[in-house]
Amino acid sequence: MRQPGTQDVPGRASGTGDRPISTRRATSGRVVGIDVGGSGIKGAPVDLSVGRFATDRVRLPTPRPATPDRVADVVAEVLDHLDVAGPVGVTLPAVVADGVVETAANIDPSWLGVHAVELFGRATGRPVGVLNDADAAGIAEMRYGAGKGRGGVVVVVTLGTGIGTAVFSDGVLVPNTELGHLPLHHGDAEDWVAESVREREDLSWKHYAHRLQHYLELVQRLLWPRLIVIGGGVSRKAEKFLPHIELRTEVVPARLHNDAGIVGAALFAPLSLGRPAAVPAP
Ligand code: BGC
Repeated sequence: MRQPGTQDVPGRASGTGDRPISTRRATSGRVVGIDVGGSGIKGAPVDLSVGRFATDRVRLPTPRPATPDRVADVVAEVLDHLDVAGPVGVTLPAVVADGVVETAANIDPSWLGVHAVELFGRATGRPVGVLNDADAAGIAEMRYGAGKGRGGVVVVVTLGTGIGTAVFSDGVLVPNTELGHLPLHHGDAEDWVAESVREREDLSWKHYAHRLQHYLELVQRLLWPRLIVIGGGVSRKAEKFLPHIELRTEVVPARLHNDAGIVGAALFAPLSLGRPAAVPAP
């Protein structure tokens, strides 16, 4: 199967400023991935031969307000702590098309229109790839986790502060699908089914599963996937809500849980000028 995150992705340029940098993706060795979330910015060197952290993860609090320059500074700080050279992949909870941030549902509005690849490239001095957080989690699950070896249409749904989605057709990612914003019950699905809503409204697992059932039925009706993978931190508690879900489509919990974002980010780090992205961890 052609693995997402490993092939040339011509439309999604990576690099620092004007310097021409190959858009081939990392395939082996240890590469740093950084996951930018609402409360924490987390990074680790990832051993891409197995999809696991090579050393402990570093987490710094997300600055408030989480404006582009301040987030870029913290990303550079995470890299200083990790002390592993080479290219880096970074996730953002937003649509990232051709390196540019196009939406800001769960991120500071000042990100709109920012060229994130250039921003992080300047801040870190490294070749950088930037992608949507759910797409990152998705490519990690497809390569190492619950979607490994699965063909046809697979949808990875991450339940967290918002709802993120990654859609694959025979292992190839359709980026930036944003199915968390599908209209549901006269509103935005994310505002009804996100894990943060379950916590805020103190919903029972059964009640939450009922909402998730409605959402997954909608996804099923639109895409008819062969498999739905439920990711995000809540996937660790899948036994509390998945038994209440009844769907024609197979629904399974993610395997990489919250690590998927960092692992997928590392997969998306560009190979610099065709040289191997891999650099040994200290
Ligand atoms: C954003 C997505 C993101 C998801 C999970 C949504 O609100 O629109 O881009 O993937 O939250 O963070």
